[in-house]
Amino acid sequence: MDNQKRITIVNMKGGVGKTTLAVNMAFVLTKYHNKKVLLVDVDPQFNATQYLINQQDILKHFQNKKTIYDVLMPKKEEEINLSGKLSAKKDVIKLKDFIINVVNNESSRLDLLPSSLKLINFETTKRGVENHLKNFINSKCKEYDYIIFDCPPTLSILTLSAYLASTHYLIPIKPDYLSSLGLPLLERGLKEYEDTYEHSLIPIGVVFTMSLNTSSLPEEIESSINRSGSRKIFTNRISQTVNIARSIENNIETIKVFYNNGKFARYASEFKEVVNEMIKVL
Ligand SMILES: Nc1ncnc2c1ncn2[C@@H]1O[C@H](COP(=O)(O)OP(=O)(O)O)[C@@H](O)[C@H]1O
Ligand SMILES: [Mg+2]
Repeated sequence: MDNQKRITIVNMKGGVGKTTLAVNMAFVLTKYHNKKVLLVDVDPQFNATQYLINQQDILKHFQNKKTIYDVLMPKKEEEINLSGKLSAKKDVIKLKDFIINVVNNESSRLDLLPSSLKLINFETTKRGVENHLKNFINSKCKEYDYIIFDCPPTLSILTLSAYLASTHYLIPIKPDYLSSLGLPLLERGLKEYEDTYEHSLIPIGVVFTMSLNTSSLPEEIESSINRSGSRKIFTNRISQTVNIARSIENNIETIKVFYNNGKFARYASEFKEVVNEMIKVL
């Protein structure tokens, strides 16, 4: 647990490849680094859930089991349970009621805590809700080496919940000037969280996703990133290619093909290199 890394993947722009990066990072950590990984889908669009699980299984889970919604809005008894005021015997929260196992190896695994449509209008005036995800992770998710939070493109209570539950954050951005403009705003928003909640995260850095070439970055993007205070810019980037878009189109099976079929090796290795680069600085 002491060594557990909890990483929020965040950017206020949608469609820049955040979820694709989050899902692939989770998979690479499981497959190539032998880690136990929990991917937490905090986005009401539930793309991470869709990229990993086929439709029927998602519907089945929604009918019978719990989602991130139930973590954020626990029943009274569950809330008491998470606050540590119930004896271990009366443990009403079982992790297995929430998660879907995606990859299961002898010593590594990838689990998903799925999102829910019910989050679309999620607003609450109830005090303390922003701590529920953190409390859940603290008490129920000790076995994981990595917990990755895939956030919506907003600084809402959902992203705040992930922030408070995390130790690190990573920013994926598309390497074009307009996308880089939002960075100072994002960093300011995170700084406000830090000041208000007295909880600071370690910035891992900026990863370029959907990159069209490997030449050096236009200067104005680099200076915009430097101004925003983000320390590290990853040298490894993710290319923009339909090979990557297709790899996450259906479910975990297409992701496995992406990593196992030599045809995609060049692009699969981009994700592997980004993860290698990340691990070195964690
Ligand atoms: N590297 C890439 N190259 C091409 N298309 C991509 C790439 N990464 C993601 N996409 C596609 O772009 C869309 C948005 O990606 P997604 O990861 O869901 O973005 P976000 O989470 O930032 O909204 C999806 O249709 C996805 O398939
Ligand atoms: Mg997304």
